[in-house]
Amino acid sequence: MLKRNAIVLAVMALGLGSASAADPASINWSKIKPVSIGLFYPGQSSYEWLRSPEHKGADVEVNRGDSCVSCHDEPSAEQDLGNKIVKGGRLEPVPVKGKSGYKELSVQAAYDSKNMYLRYEWKTDNPYPGTEHQYLRYDGHGWNVWGFPKLDKVVQEGKQPGIYEDRMSIIIDDGKVPGFAKQGCWLTCHDGQRDMPKQFTKEEVAANALLTAIKKSDVRKFLPDTRSNPSDWKTGKSVDEISQLKADGKFVDLIQWRAHRSNAVGMADDGYVLEWRLSDAGKDMFGGNADGKTHQPLFMFDEKKMGFRSITADSQARKGNLFLVKEENAVPFDPNAGWKEGDLIPDYIISRTDAKGSAADNNAMAAWKDGKWTVVLTRPLGLTNTDDKTLRAGGVYNVGFAIHDDNITTRGHQVSFVKTLGLGAKQKVDIQAVKLP
Ligand code: HEC
Repeated sequence: MLKRNAIVLAVMALGLGSASAADPASINWSKIKPVSIGLFYPGQSSYEWLRSPEHKGADVEVNRGDSCVSCHDEPSAEQDLGNKIVKGGRLEPVPVKGKSGYKELSVQAAYDSKNMYLRYEWKTDNPYPGTEHQYLRYDGHGWNVWGFPKLDKVVQEGKQPGIYEDRMSIIIDDGKVPGFAKQGCWLTCHDGQRDMPKQFTKEEVAANALLTAIKKSDVRKFLPDTRSNPSDWKTGKSVDEISQLKADGKFVDLIQWRAHRSNAVGMADDGYVLEWRLSDAGKDMFGGNADGKTHQPLFMFDEKKMGFRSITADSQARKGNLFLVKEENAVPFDPNAGWKEGDLIPDYIISRTDAKGSAADNNAMAAWKDGKWTVVLTRPLGLTNTDDKTLRAGGVYNVGFAIHDDNITTRGHQVSFVKTLGLGAKQKVDIQAVKLP
């Protein structure tokens, strides 16, 4: 126990030592007014569904680009939508037991000459932090993934436990993506994607010119402009046309704080959405821990530091903050260590020192206490990478928020309608970042 906590503390300290002007831990947040944002369970309310007659009396308006909140403007709109959809029905074929339809997210924002700081706070569904992620499990012969997100069939059927990290995500547009200011994240959410209606088949993906050109084996978030028919993922534009969209800034930034895979090293990941949900250039802070050929783990816990090489399903260590961190508590996997059926090793290896380039821009500090996560995201201003939105003092951005909670991924989140975020902006915005002294 003690050892593990010591590692977590060391890792937190690492996070604090990032190249930031203000130490985010010393910002006096009590001086900055929190903005409460309603997040709701959207189920399968895709770009296509919203434009169809199923969205009764609204398809014409959504097609012509009206904003969602021009109609969904009641104070309880998010609660009403989420609490209804989450129960199951036309927009949720696989209702997840106990899932909350609505979440309140508190956001505080600040900036200085180097960074923007976003302090998020929200209540988790579970009485413990969702820092656990998938494992590799020894079955007596080989190693297989153990633990899947709750919308997966194997979890629904009780064949696998539901295990997936909590996440807090923000999508940022600087006004260059047509329609984002009015319809927000729904521009990225389409039929055909994972866990959406008419989900892709492997054969369809293999036959698709764009996805084979960018070497992808499934369909994830994309922006309408990257398709010749925005309502059909199969109609991808050419790689050259998409490069031009990117050069013109017609993409959105997607920053995900991940309770397991980035939190372990005091970071948030850095990605963007254009023709797919892509990672920024460089290297993420996490990578797969399974050998591509043998599917054995690449790393295991350092027994000298942890007291164990692996854990089992009933280990106390599963109750939070167990991470396999390359520079802290991992050693190369020993295939001859006398593995027993049921031994578990994390499916991801995490490293701050391996994280490189544009993918390694964002830092974060986090704590879970009294049923709530508090996360402080640190995002540098003035980034000039071609896959980043450049934040500037005085700037105004369109943002959408999402929380993944209780062992789930894909559509199993609560999301916000689009909001405006200003960094000391002159105009009125939903969230005004305060200039730090
Ligand atoms: C012109 C007004 C209008 C606009 C614009 C509009 N909606 Fe709706 N929306 C409605 C109405 C009315 C309903 C209820 C229709 C029904 O029950 O079939 C609805 C239903 C929904 C539902 C389904 C709720 C349920 O009970 O199943 C979702 C989700 C939704 N809207 C999301 C959005 C989003 C996201 C946007 C923006 C992209 C949007 N709407 C834009 C009027 C609108």
